[in-house]
Amino acid sequence: MKLIFLGPPGAGKGTQATGVSTSLNVPHLSTGDMFRAAIKNETPTGLKAKSYMDKGQLVPDSVVIDMVRERLAMDDCKGGYLLDGFPRTVEQAKALDEISTPDAVINIEVPDEKLMSRLTGRRVCGKCQGTFHITKLANEKTCPVCGADLIHRDDDKPETISNRLRVYHEQTAPLIGYYQGNGKLRTVDGDNRPEDVLKAILASLE
Ligand code: AP5
Repeated sequence: MKLIFLGPPGAGKGTQATGVSTSLNVPHLSTGDMFRAAIKNETPTGLKAKSYMDKGQLVPDSVVIDMVRERLAMDDCKGGYLLDGFPRTVEQAKALDEISTPDAVINIEVPDEKLMSRLTGRRVCGKCQGTFHITKLANEKTCPVCGADLIHRDDDKPETISNRLRVYHEQTAPLIGYYQGNGKLRTVDGDNRPEDVLKAILASLE
C-alpha cells in the first residue's frame, strides 16, 4: 500500500506512523526526519533546509521532490510506503503522482487550539525517535523506552509553531481538496486517544 499522512503540525502523524507502518509492513518515510538527519550530518541538502526549518517555512519544492524521488527509488519502497510530511504543496503532490501515485491519503484532523500545547510539550528521543509529551513523562530529560536524551525540537518554540500553522493553512491545506477530488482522501479525527486514532486509521483503510 502507498499511503500518505496529511495533517497540521502536531496532528500526530509521527505518533501514528509506527503502528501503521508496522501493520501495513511498509517503510515510514518522514521528510522532516530526513531533513533533521541531513542537518545533523551537515550535507548540502541539510545546509539548504536549515534556514527554512528554523523559521517554520517550507523547504523549496525542488529540494524536497529530489530527496523523495531518490528515497522512493530504494528497494524497500517496492512494496509501498507511508509518507509523513510529503506532499505539502500542490506542486509536490503533482510531482508524486508522476513518481509513484499514492493509493490513499489519511487526513488527520485536530483543532488548531490543541496543536500549540501538543508541540510546545513535545519531546523526541534522539536515539529511538520515540515521540512523547511532557504531561506523560515522569522525567522530561530521558527517553522512557531506551534511556537516551530527549530533545526539544528547535522549531517547537511558540513563535515558530505559529508560523508553521500559518504555512500549513496557506500551502498544505489545499491538498485536502486535491485528494478529495481524486477520491483518495480519508479523514480521521485526531483529537482522540492515540490508540483510538490508530484504530480509526486502520479501519479507514479496510
Ligand atoms: P515535520 O517534521 O514533518 O513536522 P510537521 O509536519 O510540522 O509535523 P510534526 O512532526 O510537528 O507533528 P506530527 O503530526 O508528526 O505530530 P507528533 O506525532 O510528533 O517538518 C518539519 C519541517 O521540515 C517543516 O516545517 C519544513 O520546514 C520541513 N519540511 C518537512 N517536509 C517538508 C516538505 N514536504 N516540504 C517542505 N518542507 C518540508 O505529535 C505531536 C505531539 O502531540 C507529541 O507530543 C505527541 O505526544 C502528542 N500527541 C500525538 N497524538 C496525540 C493524541 N492523539 N492525543 C494527545 N496528544 C497527542
